Amino acid sequence: MGKAEHYLHAPAAHGMAAHGKLAGKVALITGGTSGIGLASARLFQAHGAQLAITGRSPDALRQAGAALDGQALVLRSDAASLEQIDAVMAAVKQRYGRLDVLFINAGVASPAPIEQVDEASFDNQIGVNLKGVFFTIQKALPLFDGPASVIVTTSITNRLGSPNFSVYGAAKAALRSLVKSLGLELIARGIRVNAISPGPIDTPMFDRLGLPDAVAAAKKQAIAAKSPSGRFGSADEVAKAALFLASADASYMVGEEIVVDGGMSLL
Ligand SMILES: NC(=O)c1ccc[n+]([C@@H]2O[C@H](COP(=O)([O-])OP(=O)(O)OC[C@H]3O[C@@H](n4cnc5c(N)ncnc54)[C@H](OP(=O)(O)O)[C@@H]3O)[C@@H](O)[C@H]2O)c1
Repeated sequence: MGKAEHYLHAPAAHGMAAHGKLAGKVALITGGTSGIGLASARLFQAHGAQLAITGRSPDALRQAGAALDGQALVLRSDAASLEQIDAVMAAVKQRYGRLDVLFINAGVASPAPIEQVDEASFDNQIGVNLKGVFFTIQKALPLFDGPASVIVTTSITNRLGSPNFSVYGAAKAALRSLVKSLGLELIARGIRVNAISPGPIDTPMFDRLGLPDAVAAAKKQAIAAKSPSGRFGSADEVAKAALFLASADASYMVGEEIVVDGGMSLL
C-alpha cells in the first residue's frame, strides 16, 4: 500500500442529525472498521458527525462503509506508515477541509512469551500502538481549526502487569505519558488530548491474537469470571466514553485517561 486508497467516494454528507453532541463536527477514527472504532463511528454519526475511518482489510472497510450508510470517507491505511498517515490527512482535508475530532484507536496485540518475541513483532506493535499514534497527532495538527479533541485508545494493561503482552503493554503505557505531555503542550491551542483505557471488551480483537479457538474461548471465560462485573464490556460501552471526550461535555478535560473496565483494574 503506497497511499491511502479511497474505498468509497461517498456523496457529500446530507441528512445528518442536525442536533446531537457532534453536530457539524468532522471526526477521523483510525481502526474504525471493527470493534470499538466501528461502534464509535456509528455513535458519532448518530450525533451528527461527518466521518472518516481507516483500517487495512478491504472487506472490513467495505462492510464498515455500508454500516455507516455510505456517508463516511473510508480510507485504507496502515496506522504505522507515516506516508499513509500523510495520505489520510490529505484525503480528509480534500473531503472536509478540516478536522474537529481525532480518535486514534487502531491497535494491535501479538501476545508471546519473551523468548518468542522477534524484532518484526516488536517493531510492528510499537509502530502501530505508539509511533503511529504520535505521528497521527502531529500530522493532524494543520487540520484543526478551532477547539479540537484528540482521543487515544490505551488499555488497562498499561498499568497492570500482563504476562505475554509485555510489548503491547509497554506501548500502551507510553501512550499514557504521551497523552499527558501532549495534553499540556496542545491545550493552549484549544486541542484537548485524552485517552480511554478499556478493560476486556468483546470485540474481534480476541480472535486476532493467533490463539487456537479452544484456548481463546477458555481465556475469555476465565477473564469474564475474574471481572468484578462478571462479563466482558461491549464496544458500545466504550464508544459512549469516546463520545463524551469528543464532545463539549468534556471541555475541561485535559491529559486524562478514562478507564472503562467493569472494575477489572481495581482488583
Ligand atoms: N478489545 C479489548 O479487550 C481491548 C482492551 C484494551 C484495549 N483495546 C484497544 O482498543 C483498540 C480497538 O481494538 P478492538 O478491541 O476494537 O479491536 P478490533 O475489533 O480488532 O479492531 C481493531 C481495528 O484496528 C484496525 N487496525 C489494526 N491494525 C491496524 C493498522 N496497522 N493500521 C490500520 N488499522 C489497523 C483494524 O482494522 P484492520 O485489521 O483491517 O487493519 C480494526 O479496524 C485497540 O487500540 C486495542 O489495543 C482493546
